Amino acid sequence: MSKEGIDVLLAEKRTFPPPKEFSEKAHIKSMKDYESIYKRSVEDPEGFWSEMAEKNLTWFKKWDKVLEWSFEKPEIKWFMGGKLNASYNCLDRFIKTPIRNKAAIIWEMDSGGYRTYTYQQLYYEVNRFANILKKHGVKKGDRVTIYLPMIPELVIAMLACARIGAIHSIVFGGFSAQALRDRIQDCQAKLLITADRGVRGGRFVPLKANADEALHECPNVEKVIVVKRTDPAIDMEPNRDIWWHEEMAAHDIANYCEPEWMDAEDPLFILYTSGSTGKPKGVLHTTGGYMLFTNLTFKWIFDYHDEDIHFCTADIGWVTGHSYIVYGPLSNGATSLMFEGVPTYPNPGRFWEICDKHRVNIFYTAPTAIRALMREGESWVTRYDLSSLRLLGTVGEPINPEAWMWYHTYVGKGKLPIVDTWWQTETGGILITPLPGAMTLKPGSANRPFPGVVPVILKENGSPASVNEGGYLVIEKPWPGMIRGTYGDPENKRVKEVYFSRFPGKYFTGDGARIDEDGDYWLMGRIDDVINISGHRLGTAEVESALVSHEAVAEAAVVGYPHEIKGEGIYVYVTLKEGYQPSDDLKKILVGHVRTVIGPIATPDKLQFAPGLPKTRSGKIMRRILRKIAKGDVDDLGDVSTLADPSVVDELLKGRL
Ligand code: WTA
Repeated sequence: MSKEGIDVLLAEKRTFPPPKEFSEKAHIKSMKDYESIYKRSVEDPEGFWSEMAEKNLTWFKKWDKVLEWSFEKPEIKWFMGGKLNASYNCLDRFIKTPIRNKAAIIWEMDSGGYRTYTYQQLYYEVNRFANILKKHGVKKGDRVTIYLPMIPELVIAMLACARIGAIHSIVFGGFSAQALRDRIQDCQAKLLITADRGVRGGRFVPLKANADEALHECPNVEKVIVVKRTDPAIDMEPNRDIWWHEEMAAHDIANYCEPEWMDAEDPLFILYTSGSTGKPKGVLHTTGGYMLFTNLTFKWIFDYHDEDIHFCTADIGWVTGHSYIVYGPLSNGATSLMFEGVPTYPNPGRFWEICDKHRVNIFYTAPTAIRALMREGESWVTRYDLSSLRLLGTVGEPINPEAWMWYHTYVGKGKLPIVDTWWQTETGGILITPLPGAMTLKPGSANRPFPGVVPVILKENGSPASVNEGGYLVIEKPWPGMIRGTYGDPENKRVKEVYFSRFPGKYFTGDGARIDEDGDYWLMGRIDDVINISGHRLGTAEVESALVSHEAVAEAAVVGYPHEIKGEGIYVYVTLKEGYQPSDDLKKILVGHVRTVIGPIATPDKLQFAPGLPKTRSGKIMRRILRKIAKGDVDDLGDVSTLADPSVVDELLKGRL
């Protein structure tokens, strides 16, 4: 975060205590409640979490031991010996209660139509599809890659995998064929589930065509199940590709599939995410801890009550969708609204139209969406009846106070609490957040750790930072939803290196933060080479490797820079090989190349050709300088005397975009 950004936040003194009517009905009603629960959770974590596990999940068999952990190894095990099934916890346990007739999923289509699945209907579909997976040879522990748009079949496929103990790996529909190929290869998936095309903002996404391209190099995939979302003529490969609707039609509706008894530590899913270095890694989450953590965080943070309709605008291809569209809400018996489209189609009132139409109570989105909609003016908000809304939330990146105030004023009518929730793919669920019935909100602050979560802010040398002094956000104790490993590394070497070596024995988040005089947390963004584009996480190394895979590129360096809407934009420096000349055409080609290799989310915003990159004598690129130039902060570039060739800096300044 820039110095000006930090100054703005330090000057931010507005406070919003919880509305009395909200607190009275809330699960956690006051700071006193929170503090006593928090105290208990850290003094007796095993007692606290086992009580929660007993109360909130249904187990086939109780665990023998609550927790075994070492952040040195690292190894984390929760509820050892306990048996349960995630799909059972989201469906079966409600089937004999009045919840069976309640909407589990409201699916709002891109076009504006909608379809609803009750718990009983979803239960039937999941059972049927689970049997189909079995018929095609999918067994417990097998990996299934899912490359689908935001359609109900995505939820059905996830829960069907969970039902039979297959590990799902969902790949966001915005990723390219190559990105899909890498993710299928990494986890050696046996089966792929995709759709003919996705529909977003009136445009089609050629998922099946991408999948076909990816599968040229994925011999391990034996079958492809294809959902018909639109109606194009697509190629179906005989003996490999199967239509979802034909398979489903051939199975009886009441075709029960016995849920697999999963060990609490059996994997539930893999989700690929970007880090500072190398290719995206398959973050592994297991069944018991993840289910408990998403269940409880959903209930307490969104203050969920039985009658609520919850609308999380994320795509299920990201962790937010996994945890707060699917597993958290459904394991609570909630109604979860999933939206196929984009916030600006057919116009920038779309979110609010959906909230009005379906009488949404809880609305959870990303700061980037708020900033984009804010620019369109509040008249898009005020024309809808938003009186059903009770609670607002944000996730994915720091929210600037201006966007927070706009959200609070126009969407929340100056009354609704906003939960600014901080977490990561690796954390499985929310770690730092307001509890809306208890806490006084401050625009830009994520308030406090969730019960059981023990964060600390450390300085470079490992000692704790003092009040308002920034530092590295680190977590000291295990929580049930945390990462257990990365796929394909049973010894956890990668996890150890990435998360547990910067400060040995502690989980390193990669984020900077400070704690203010009241004990509230303020997140300040990534301090590593991960950038956050519209709430989408991307490693600069990935974009660089995409660029250098083009024949014209000798070297590339990628940094983030502050972007008004996206939070961060992608700034690319490229040096060309002999024989290539900088040109606008080549710029377009290189931008297009990155889109092909990774996907549209990685589209560079600015691409500067440079004769050379600033390097130390040992050949290390000095990103600090590149970041400053990208940001336009060029008056003081700091010490450039250690550069092998200080003159490259002048060239870079001349060519700045
Ligand atoms: C950032 C998304 C500030 C942070 C759930 C983190 C946030 C990264 C917030 C994880 C927030 C997420 N305030 N920053 N409320 N929420 N972040 O894995 O930098 O896609 O490390 O998980 O997003 O991104 P990921």
